[in-house]
Amino acid sequence: EKGGHEYFMLKEIDEQPEALANTLRGHFEAGRIILDEQRISDQDLRDVDKVFVVACGSAYHSGLVAKYAIEHWCRLPVEVELASEFRYRDPVLDRDTLVVAVSQSGETADTLEAVRHAREQKARVLAVCNTNGAQIPRESDAVLYTHAGPEIGVASTKAFLAQIAANYLVGLALAQARGTKYPDEVAREFGELEAMPAAVQKVLSTVEQTRELGRRIADSRAVLFLGRHVGFPVALEGALKLKELAYMHAEGFAAGELKHGPIALIEEGLPVVVVMPSPKGRAVLHSKLVSNISEIQARGARTIVIAEEGDETVRPFADELIEVPAVPTLLQPLVSTVPLQVLAAEIARSRGYDVDKPRNLAKSVTVE
Ligand code: M6R
Repeated sequence: EKGGHEYFMLKEIDEQPEALANTLRGHFEAGRIILDEQRISDQDLRDVDKVFVVACGSAYHSGLVAKYAIEHWCRLPVEVELASEFRYRDPVLDRDTLVVAVSQSGETADTLEAVRHAREQKARVLAVCNTNGAQIPRESDAVLYTHAGPEIGVASTKAFLAQIAANYLVGLALAQARGTKYPDEVAREFGELEAMPAAVQKVLSTVEQTRELGRRIADSRAVLFLGRHVGFPVALEGALKLKELAYMHAEGFAAGELKHGPIALIEEGLPVVVVMPSPKGRAVLHSKLVSNISEIQARGARTIVIAEEGDETVRPFADELIEVPAVPTLLQPLVSTVPLQVLAAEIARSRGYDVDKPRNLAKSVTVE
């Protein structure tokens, strides 16, 4: 059942292209984004004036990624909240607020309570879920299933990529309903999403080098992760994978925060993973990160750089370079997360840990 893989997680990493294709399937017909099985009306979407994404763990990171896209496409304010914080706060919601509750299992206690909290205040709740008929979709107004297939490994992989794609469908549906994107632009964005399974497949065909790197740094005491823009949540996700699988101290930071504290952690030989934006995207983002890498390298860090193929500027600053295919900026998390999953899994294996069942963790956190 592991399809020749040693662990379910490794199988699930390999299934990501198929999972993404399944998430997108059936959601673009006759030139329009079609949201969900249960339908949420266009009028409801038009009236939305604020979006909250509530979730935990990796699902929360998928929401952080979506914030960049939804704000850009829809010109709507987007707040991304840890469900465990949201549920005990007094968030400002009304019937024109769309709350997107993201959960692979659909059973996470805090996310479920966040859904109840939002509905009490008359917000509309859309669940993004991977498990048919789970409690969170049952208690939501509408549901968008990710269709990534069952995820057995405790560390989320294919469900995470599928959540990003599903959140993007929500963003495109909002843009379409609100008219902030023309139909041909929505079609183009969807077309770019549809090209992602092939891009992820390409990353998967080159992961051997990442595995080998994982084995070489498996004895490190800590690993830091830096990113900007959509690369920031990718850094958080890379650090979470490493914590949960390899029991290693790992932290993700927004690269712009370096001088506000984290740079003090840099010491000789400390591996620092840097998630680079495309050199063809916003030039300022790229050049800022290049200078961040040079600063940490000058202080002795061992830089591990995830960069777009052919990005020559970054080469001199990369002690280790992992190349990913060129894709539009907002879609980069779908390719740049994959090497970080592979890295964490390989470090954990090298340290002799069970990659599917990390200590102290459950697949679905149904108690607080
Ligand atoms: O089932 P959910 O998506 O609601 O789960 C949320 C988190 O518990 C989950 O993403 C967790 O952080 C993963 N183990 C991360 O790999």
